[in-house]
Amino acid sequence: MSFDLLLKNAVLPDGRPADIGCAGGRILAVEPRLEAEAGQVIDAGGRLVAPPFVDVHFHMDATLSLGLPRLNQSGTLLEGIALWGELKPILTQEAVIERALRYCDLAVSQGLLAIRSHVDVCDDRLLAVEALLEVKAKVRDYIDLQLVAFPQDGYFRSPGAAANLLRALDLGVDVVGGIPHFERTMADGAASLRALCEIAAARGLQVDIHCDESDDPLSRHIEALAYETQRLGLHGRVAGSHLTSMHSMDNYYAAKLIPLIAEAGVHAIANPLINITLQGRADTYPKRRGQTRVPELRAAGVNVAFGHDCVMDPWYSLGSGDMLDVAHMGLHVGQMTSREAMRWCFEAVTTNPARIMGLEGYGLAPGCNADFVVLQAADPIEAIRLKAARLFVVRRGRVIAESAPRLARLALPGRPAQVDAAAYAPATA
Ligand code: FE2
Repeated sequence: MSFDLLLKNAVLPDGRPADIGCAGGRILAVEPRLEAEAGQVIDAGGRLVAPPFVDVHFHMDATLSLGLPRLNQSGTLLEGIALWGELKPILTQEAVIERALRYCDLAVSQGLLAIRSHVDVCDDRLLAVEALLEVKAKVRDYIDLQLVAFPQDGYFRSPGAAANLLRALDLGVDVVGGIPHFERTMADGAASLRALCEIAAARGLQVDIHCDESDDPLSRHIEALAYETQRLGLHGRVAGSHLTSMHSMDNYYAAKLIPLIAEAGVHAIANPLINITLQGRADTYPKRRGQTRVPELRAAGVNVAFGHDCVMDPWYSLGSGDMLDVAHMGLHVGQMTSREAMRWCFEAVTTNPARIMGLEGYGLAPGCNADFVVLQAADPIEAIRLKAARLFVVRRGRVIAESAPRLARLALPGRPAQVDAAAYAPATA
């Protein structure tokens, strides 16, 4: 057998040693030891190989716009939405495309090769929709970009949003979005979910709703979303994003709700970096964290992913396209500190969101796309701990990004000449 690319001495996320042989853009063999001819051989040196990172919740139309036209002074979600409203009329298609492509460069360097981005459809010009459709076509060889038609200012509350959403879907946007907690009333929110899920059912599309992104313990849109999913038979095709009100809900009600979400096959997407900074803003002390009930949803069998949501935009000044940064925050906020739960947090930025996006050929088994990342870490926990360097990023059997290992030189008498943080492995895995 001969390969285009042979990865030697790697370790899979489950701990098995593996050589991976690729040809024609696909993985042909995954074995503890492969001896074969290959056009290119990479020695992983006993380090972790993982499928690419996946960000299932992002806003690429707003990314890298930090400071335009001003900064978010309060740091709240609502000022962020207002600020985005100020920016929208002065957006140009060229600027949105340029920023999105720059973000995609950053994403690739971080091994992030699949992104689901919401795109605001409340601007009648649909300028951002057209811009991101162009970006999607431009990056298709290296990033799977899925777009969600997102009525940021409300499906009912914003005049024209309902018609614009359909126009965006007609133009090729993939997924139906919504924001029920931003409608004028709870009843309008529920009605928006009914309408949006019916559109998805009629068109055979997926649904991804900004759902209950508030600290209101009585916000109940996730209940309505699970109900509509059941009613229309959309099992497995619907995601609830944020779900932060669940953090504040009465425990008795949450114990009734979570099995309903599981029964409907609704996916849950937490956005740890954003939820921990935007929620609890009206609290004094104690301040609520606002991240949805990740361990409990997971225990009930709900597929849960972590999304990045924002990078340097009206809602969040930080971020770097690093899904390990996202997993690190999600782990801390969710207090998911057992070895098993920490390994799961790695899945929450790889395999779990890949399932939500319905990515075909994703994974490290023979027959899958030859897409993977070699990290400067021995295992997924160490990858999260160190936000490990992406030594090699491979797409369809071709290296598309490389980073040097992070090593620090020491100048201390009697001590080693360099420090490799990835060499501090625990005694037990
Ligand atoms: Fe979002």
